[in-house]
Formats: sequence, structure tokens, C-alpha cells
Amino acid sequence: MTKILVTGGAGYIGSHAVVELAQAGFEPIIVDNFVNSETTVLAGLREILGREVPCYRIDCGNAEALHEVFRKEGDIKGVIHFAAYKAVGESVQKPLAYFHNNVGSLITLLQVMKDEGVENLVFSSSCTVYGIPDQLPVTEATPTKPASSPYGRTKQMCEDVVHDSSQAADNTTHTILLRYFNPIGAHESAKIGELPLGVPNNLVPFITQTAAGLRDKLTIFGNDYDTPDGTNVRDYIHVVDLAKAHVVAVQRLLDRKASEVVETFNVGTGHGNTVLEVVKAFEEASGQKLNYSIGPRRPGDVPAIYADATKAAEVLGFKTETSLRDALASAWKWQQSLVR
Ligand code: NAD
Ligand code: WQD
Repeated sequence: MTKILVTGGAGYIGSHAVVELAQAGFEPIIVDNFVNSETTVLAGLREILGREVPCYRIDCGNAEALHEVFRKEGDIKGVIHFAAYKAVGESVQKPLAYFHNNVGSLITLLQVMKDEGVENLVFSSSCTVYGIPDQLPVTEATPTKPASSPYGRTKQMCEDVVHDSSQAADNTTHTILLRYFNPIGAHESAKIGELPLGVPNNLVPFITQTAAGLRDKLTIFGNDYDTPDGTNVRDYIHVVDLAKAHVVAVQRLLDRKASEVVETFNVGTGHGNTVLEVVKAFEEASGQKLNYSIGPRRPGDVPAIYADATKAAEVLGFKTETSLRDALASAWKWQQSLVR
């Protein structure tokens, strides 16, 4: 079995990618420092897969520890680098920590991969690199705009690091940058899912926690945007669909099918939904009435963004399979499994 190192593999998206990799016949190996995840995730993975997934509790900024993992495992063929801090608001308060962890760990990883002769990398980028786009939907060629947070800037900087290092005469790394839109939902088993610490910043965990009675009500951040119902538009992608994009990307790198040394793909559904549409779809999926009210705009919010998913479809053969309603149903099932 082909070994793939999954940094941040205990996290929300990483854990789902571990499942899809294993079920596609790869041997995922997790590296995570559990700064934003729980070791209980490993039990969830064991229950889904019926076997243990190897996991190294180390920091990706620790080059020596990474070297040891590559040497011990021997024949790792590629890396998916999920490990990063991801809280937009926190990044405004702790910008240095975000640059250090997100950009620093990528640089360390690239150097270690080169030293160890590991050539294939899939990197977790984000639609946040587009800032407030001039045109919708956004294609991979849509110019990036100033990011609205240090977090967003780390993703832009990481993309620059990958591009610049790929131009070096002695470069050996082939990279696929995946720009995720808004991942939501959980594995159908409800054994793994999103574990937000404290009050969730993201819409869907806030909705499910409100429906579960853990929060009084959802505040919708503004209904006076230039969108169909005045609320923000986003491209919500089921996390299992997103996880599958990584399997396709890894396979493309291993098969040396990439047309360039760095390729970039949007990973979204290609459809935008307003916040009110998400609320309605959640109510339908869960049978719960959601308590919500309209509040002021949230600073830094992009009014509308959704993916042009054509390149991923044509080049990767990747298409999402799960409807918004089913994705929300899976998020609700996961929430209920947590409350019990
Ligand atoms: P997450 O916080 O659930 O997972 C990240 C994992 O990385 C966690 O388990 C954390 O403990 C680990 N980690 C962080 N820094 C580390 C380090 N230095 N060394 C080792 N482990 C470390 O986040 P997620 O939602 O699964 O996001 C995964 C990736 O996708 C991140 O790079 C994130 O920026 C990116 N992304 C996320 C979203 C989203 O909305 N969730 C959208 C676009 C891009
Ligand atoms: C979605 C919509 C809110 C909470 C963030 C990051 C982005 C990317 C994905 C990593 C927005 C509205 C939310 C609430 C609300 N992450 N909302 N009430 O902001 O699109 O993107 O996650 O790369 O970089 O910025 O996601 O889930 O926070 O918000 O009305 O309590 O829901 O205004 O329109 P966002 P989100």
C-alpha cells in the first residue's frame, strides 16, 4: 500500500481525508500535535476503518521529528499538508503565531521532503485567497485580492512559497494547491466530524449547536448585502466530497499526470447559497425550527463568493456528490452524537 503522510490528520478535514485515502487503498500516516483536535478522533477512525491508523504526535515545525517519521516509515510517497491554525478572528489577535505556524511549518516540511526525497505534496489552500473578488464565480485564474485577515494572508504566502520554491533549479517537489470553499458536515457514520472549541465561528456548527439547545439563537451577520435575499453567499461543500478531492489529487501526482510542477484547483460545488438558504435547508434536513435573528454585518465578511468548479471537473474528474441538505443532515447527526 502506498504510504501518504497526512499532517493535521486528526483535524476536521484531515480525519475525513484519512478515511477516504484508506478506503481508496492508500496507507495514511497521521502527524498532528493535537493543538486543535482530540485524540478521540483516532478511536473514530478505528471504528470506521476497522484498524488503527498510525499517528505521530509531533509539531510540523520540528524538522528533526519530521525526518524521524520519514525515516521510520521508510517509503512515504506523498504528503497532504492540512496542519495549520485556521481561526480568522484569532489570527488578528495572534498574527505572529499564525505566520509562524502556517508559513513556518510549510517551509520546514518542504525542506524535509526535499532532504528525504519525497516529491508529492497536496496543500490545503482556501478561497480566502480571492479576497473580495470582482467576478463570480471565481476561477483559478481570478486574481487574488488583499486578504481580509492574517490567516488569509498565510494562505496567500504559503501559495507563494510553493510557487517560488518550485522555480529553484534543484526543485524536486510537485504540488497541487487545493483552494477549499466552505467545508461542512460530517462522515455518515457520525464517528468523526468537526469539533469546534468554545463558541463556533463558523455558520454550520453554530446552527447545529443552536438546534441542540447549546446556544440561544443564531445571529445572521447582515441582510443588506447585494445578494438575492441580502445575506452572504458561500459555496458549502460536504467535507467527505472535499476529502475525496485529496485522493484524486494524490493519485494525479503519483501518476505524474500534472501538467505543471504546481497546479491549483478550486474545490467547491460551483453553487452559491445564502445564509438564509442554509438555515431553511437545515430546518428541512433536521425537522427542527431554528431560532435566529438578523444582526449587524461581521467585519471582514466577503459579500458573496462561490467556485467555478470546471477545472477540477475537467482536469481531476472531480465532482461533488452531496446536496446541501444531505450535508446539513450529516452535520446534525454528528451534533446529536456529541450531545448524547
Ligand atoms: P483543524 O484545526 O480541524 O485541523 C488542523 C489540524 O492540524 C488539527 O488537528 C491541529 O491539531 C493540527 N495542527 C495545527 N498546527 C500543527 C502543527 N504545527 N503541527 C502538527 N499539527 C498541527 O482544521 P481543518 O478545518 O481540518 O483545516 C485543515 C486545513 O484546511 C487547514 O490548513 C485550514 O487552514 C484549511 N482550510 C480549512 C477550511 C475550513 O473552513 N475548515 C477552509 C479552507 C481551508
Ligand atoms: C459563513 C457565512 C457569515 C456565523 C471562513 C473563513 C475562510 C474559510 C472558510 C478557511 C458568512 C455567516 C456565520 C454566524 C452568520 N476558512 N454567519 N452567523 O466566513 O465564509 O469563511 O471559513 O480557509 O477563510 O473566513 O465561513 O462559516 O464563518 O461563515 O451569519 O454565527 O455565515 O457571515 O456569510 P466564512 P463562516
